Amino acid sequence: SIGAGAGAADGATRAPRVVVLTGAGISAESGVATFRDAGGLWEGHRVEDVATPEAFERDPGTVQRFYDARRRAVASVAPNPAHAALARLEAGLGDDLLLVTQNIDDLHERAGSGRVRHMHGEIFRARCLACGARVEARGDLVDAPPCPECGERTLRPDVVWFGEMPYGLDEIDLALVRCERFVAIGTSGAVHPAAGFVLTAAAFGAATLELNLAESEITPYFDESRLGLASELVPRWVDEMLAGD
Ligand code: APR
Repeated sequence: SIGAGAGAADGATRAPRVVVLTGAGISAESGVATFRDAGGLWEGHRVEDVATPEAFERDPGTVQRFYDARRRAVASVAPNPAHAALARLEAGLGDDLLLVTQNIDDLHERAGSGRVRHMHGEIFRARCLACGARVEARGDLVDAPPCPECGERTLRPDVVWFGEMPYGLDEIDLALVRCERFVAIGTSGAVHPAAGFVLTAAAFGAATLELNLAESEITPYFDESRLGLASELVPRWVDEMLAGD
């Protein structure tokens, strides 16, 4: 693949040599239910039934309460050794690492990762439908608190619902093309565009590795797939990276 040197040569920001994609599986051992292991139910709802603009249009209270419950659940758990290992990897690799997560929890940040790309948004942020501001959200939104920027009571969870455009795809796609190594951790490969990231990286020559509890829909596309708990596999892989690097 195009090495980091190419980025340095044209003066652009350094292209990360390593791209890591995480999914719900990395937070499972922290006690946050995944989507498809628990039969796709989250707080008793099918995500597809509450994580859509149509659901919010139809019944905003149910959708707000669903995310209010997830916000409280995330606030009540702690990062696990897999999150901590990726923070250690960032300390070692700096800008050579791009960490992309499908997760809306803040466990990577609480473990010490400073540069996290939340392609599906974040549970602790809200977006104002009146002024578009993306603001911090720590409490419940079902009570329609006023937007800190414009005062309108029109805050929705700043999460990407089915049918909505994920955040940051330009930066992610460029990194996938130029990286030397792509690693997916704890994702079923059921949802695009994240599920296709491995194909892009591989098409441009990156070495690809999957760390997952079980075979996923995208296991066949990886050079190597290691099956096991993220809390065991990720620290071991980070040790390899920092030793060999
Ligand atoms: N360690 C490693 N992997 C695990 C663990 C664990 N302890 N527990 C579960 N897994 C794996 C499962 O085997 C599964 O492949 O994590 C994966 C979780 O898959 P999903 O529940 O589908 O979560 P994810 O891939 O992140 O879903 C993608 O779908 O619902 C939407 O927007 C939502 O971001 C989410 C997207």
